[in-house]
Amino acid sequence: MIRLESVGLHYGTASRPGPLVLEDISFSLPAGGFRWLQGPSGAGKSSLMRLLHLELRPSGGQLVVLDNDINVLSRHDLPALRRRIGMVFQDFRLLQHLNAFDNIALPLRLAKAPEKLIAEDVGEMLRWVELTKKASHFPPELSGGEQQRIAIARAVVGRPRLLLADEPTGNLDDTQALRQMRLLGELNRLGTTVVVATHNDSLVERFPNPSLRLEDGRLVQNG
Ligand SMILES: Nc1ncnc2c1ncn2[C@@H]1O[C@H](COP(=O)(O)OP(=O)(O)OP(=O)(O)O)[C@@H](O)[C@H]1O
Ligand SMILES: [Mg+2]
Repeated sequence: MIRLESVGLHYGTASRPGPLVLEDISFSLPAGGFRWLQGPSGAGKSSLMRLLHLELRPSGGQLVVLDNDINVLSRHDLPALRRRIGMVFQDFRLLQHLNAFDNIALPLRLAKAPEKLIAEDVGEMLRWVELTKKASHFPPELSGGEQQRIAIARAVVGRPRLLLADEPTGNLDDTQALRQMRLLGELNRLGTTVVVATHNDSLVERFPNPSLRLEDGRLVQNG
């Protein structure tokens, strides 16, 4: 379902490329798998997440996501493919003009789900992240941890085939971090492939799963 073959990435343009931030990355991840993505700050975790989320194209190598080879995928097919991927951004990226309920509802509205189903599913997510009382609050009225939990709910609500979570517990206390990891674990048990980038080694110990480890743009551990 995910396969990288000698993938490289640099920011900048083809004529003015920046330095390589990912170099010679090769690994595969079967459908329904779970991987931690670890490594020091600046190692390239978020950059790898952006490739898997199809925000960026590799500068070289082969990238297959949800069984689609990105090098041959047409621009036309990209939005539909991305709608099957849930992403928790390191910086949340909630829409500031939408309240918590409507932020979570976004993927369901894009998929044209009926409003009755949206109300049920978003309600269930709000209960899980313990923010039912904040449903009508806008992001600037929420704490960092509350915004992070809304971002998790939004990524999960559409039951994506692939869930990418970039430091999803960075702003949460231990109790909330464990609760949200259980949610991602549950999604994984239901068949979603999950990749979670984290600095939190104790969280990794609590949820033992294979790790991908990046150092300075290179994969130094796979499994
Ligand atoms: N938009 C960008 N333009 C140019 N360079 C970038 C850009 N984004 C990231 N980089 C560089 O790419 C490298 C990897 O950054 P990345 O954000 O992927 O690291 P990270 O492992 O996610 O770090 P952290 O743990 O701090 O989130 C860094 O050297 C960073 O400066
Ligand atoms: Mg990062």
